[in-house]
Amino acid sequence: MSKLRTQVGIIGAGPAGLTLAHLLHFQGIESIVLERHSREYVETRVRAGVLEQGTVDILCGSGVGERLKREGLEHQGVELRFDGSGHRIDFQELVGRSITVYAQQEVVKDLILARLAYQAPTYFEAEVMRIEDYDVKPKILYRREDEEHEIACDFIAGCDGFHGICRPAVPDEQLQIHERHYPFAWLGILAQVAPASHELIYTYHERGFSLLSMRSPEISRLYLQCAPDEDIEKWSDERIWEELRTRMATREGFVLKDGAILQKGITPMRSFVASPMQFGKLFLLGDAAHIVPPTGAKGLNLAVADVRVLTRGLVEFYKRGNRQALEQYTERCLRRVWKCQRFSWWMTSMLHRFPQEDSFSHHIHVAELDYVTSSRAASTALAENYVGLPFDTPGLF
Ligand code: FAD
Ligand code: PHB
Repeated sequence: MSKLRTQVGIIGAGPAGLTLAHLLHFQGIESIVLERHSREYVETRVRAGVLEQGTVDILCGSGVGERLKREGLEHQGVELRFDGSGHRIDFQELVGRSITVYAQQEVVKDLILARLAYQAPTYFEAEVMRIEDYDVKPKILYRREDEEHEIACDFIAGCDGFHGICRPAVPDEQLQIHERHYPFAWLGILAQVAPASHELIYTYHERGFSLLSMRSPEISRLYLQCAPDEDIEKWSDERIWEELRTRMATREGFVLKDGAILQKGITPMRSFVASPMQFGKLFLLGDAAHIVPPTGAKGLNLAVADVRVLTRGLVEFYKRGNRQALEQYTERCLRRVWKCQRFSWWMTSMLHRFPQEDSFSHHIHVAELDYVTSSRAASTALAENYVGLPFDTPGLF
């Protein structure tokens, strides 16, 4: 068994783990990243695509934004579509900010490249089996190439996603869980076809929600509301395109061209918050601590917001010997987490059909969308949340 030592042991090479490792390196704090999957796997996993301005600023400010600036698609608004018509919410005009469409796996690739360039330890196919003594002298035990290894560290960052091992390592009585399951899921596709719109289109339709997004000028990303236990085998490519066309149709004759479907999958919808997010010297970040339904495009951005809070705390600790910011980690993160939970829940409720909805509920959905798109106050509230609420502490960069 090999024994290593580092300042911060980071479990998981998703957006949370890699961004944290990178920001710490930038601040002269050492870390080791352990990831159970291969590098190829994490670099090709198709997930989120919308970056808030604050996330873009953190990536660019820490020197990993070159490709993001070149290839990211800046969007100044989104469309909400219902009753056969589209209504644009103009972020720039309402709140003076925009969002950037850049795939999560591209962020992950950029961060891995940066880390390898400065030769910081990053181990793939290294599965953490357990963590020990996280209150006093934290230890991480992991398996790589059929051998067990140990890392002693000052702190453990649990960036191991919803199905990781860090949250379950905490005794149940020390954790409060707040959650909501939705009676639907998303069927998502990646397709080889130019996006039918320059901006995202969120559609409410009597047959269910749909979303048009994109990854590049040649690749579209589209989603359809489906049953939570939907059998993807029952969705031929033709059926998917037909259903998307029905839900996105407008009176003006919106045209949605089809193309080869490169990838398809089902994403469950859940809201989940674990509290607190810190236990002695163990900190939970990103999906390890909270999940939002994807309708508000907040998952990845919230992970980066946690990283920002923890980085600040660790810098205060290592550079000034001050523990106060670390002690406030849960409180600072949860203020933003709950506001993003509220927004994601609200967007989800407004845009989806719930089982057994009657004509009354349908009219309420339409009235709410009509209000949101016609009242400047309501559009501004949506825009302000969608582009990302301001941070309550000054920027890291
Ligand atoms: P993750 O990206 O989950 O990273 C955790 C990492 O930890 C993984 O690489 C995992 O392999 C590793 N790990 C776990 N256990 C161990 C262990 N024992 N040892 C070592 N490594 C371990 N958000 C949106 O905004 N829009 C979307 O469209 C969207 N789609 C999604 C689709 C899917 C299928 C999923 C699961 C999530 C989606 N999300 C979406 C959410 C968004 O992708 C997440 O919020 C984001 O990935 C969170 O980053 P993270 O680093 O916290 O966790
Ligand atoms: C995506 O492009 O994958 C995407 C965009 C907006 C969302 C969710 C997913 O709300």
